[in-house]
Amino acid sequence: MPDLSVTLAGVKLKNPILPASGTLETVDTPMLAGDLSQLGALVNKTVTRDRRDGNPPPRVWETAAGMLNSVGIPSIGIDEFMKGGLPRLRARNDRIIVSIAGFSVREFVELAETVAAAGLADFIELNLSCPNLESGVLWSTDSGLLAEVVGGVRRAVNVPLIAKLSPNVTDIAEMAAVAESAGADALGLVNTFRGLAIDVRVKKPALGNTTGGLSGPAVKPLALYAVWSSYRRVRIPIVGMGGICSWRDAIEFMLAGATAVAVGMYNFVEPGCMWEIRDGIDRYLAENGFNGAKDIIGLAHRNQ
Ligand code: SIN
Repeated sequence: MPDLSVTLAGVKLKNPILPASGTLETVDTPMLAGDLSQLGALVNKTVTRDRRDGNPPPRVWETAAGMLNSVGIPSIGIDEFMKGGLPRLRARNDRIIVSIAGFSVREFVELAETVAAAGLADFIELNLSCPNLESGVLWSTDSGLLAEVVGGVRRAVNVPLIAKLSPNVTDIAEMAAVAESAGADALGLVNTFRGLAIDVRVKKPALGNTTGGLSGPAVKPLALYAVWSSYRRVRIPIVGMGGICSWRDAIEFMLAGATAVAVGMYNFVEPGCMWEIRDGIDRYLAENGFNGAKDIIGLAHRNQ
């Protein structure tokens, strides 16, 4: 039996499969169809300091090979999350990634300090890349701001930090290097690609917030390239995401350099897919004679 475990920034995960932030409910009725304790880690919908309603509807729009969303990070606020959502997540898995977003460096730091003080998070994901907030992608499309926010949080907490970056840049590997230098322990690559749909019936943008973030199979080669090019540039591990729908997709991301893989949009299509992906990785490793998942991380670079 191959060993599915991987080590992400010094923390052992039982397997490399995670839900992407926003695809797992933190309430008592999880929408995913499987045993949550059997995933590598659980991730909350990004939480903000204050309660927020998010963007006006419609918030999602199906595209030819994916989904545009402009959800706008609705949030119960950090206090409620710490009291309810986080303990409930913790009860379901021994590895928890807490995803946070601030509207200033100070807010990011304070959120991270609050999360760290509770001692329930194995990682903090800095969502530096939501395309649906006015300042959302700025955090990881402006190298100065990226260094400032990652550095600020790094100095404040010891919890491993995952910097989730925007693909809406010219050179993602360059931004990956900035995040690494500022103290990120791992990278989340990539958040959604800013896009637009127009509803021809009403002759105006389909989403309530006009633009949205594209995810799903349409973006997979783009996200895979982001992982590939960043892996060549940085030494910190990468959580790959963007259009992963099958075990083959997950394997591609790992061969390109991802240590773990996050499934996003496809959880809405096939709620059992993460467990199928885990089983598929297991079979692939066995059939190809690998001892474990670790053996294939970045292997495509070495086989070039
Ligand atoms: C959203 O809530 O708008 C999506 C979150 C994100 O893209 O980071």
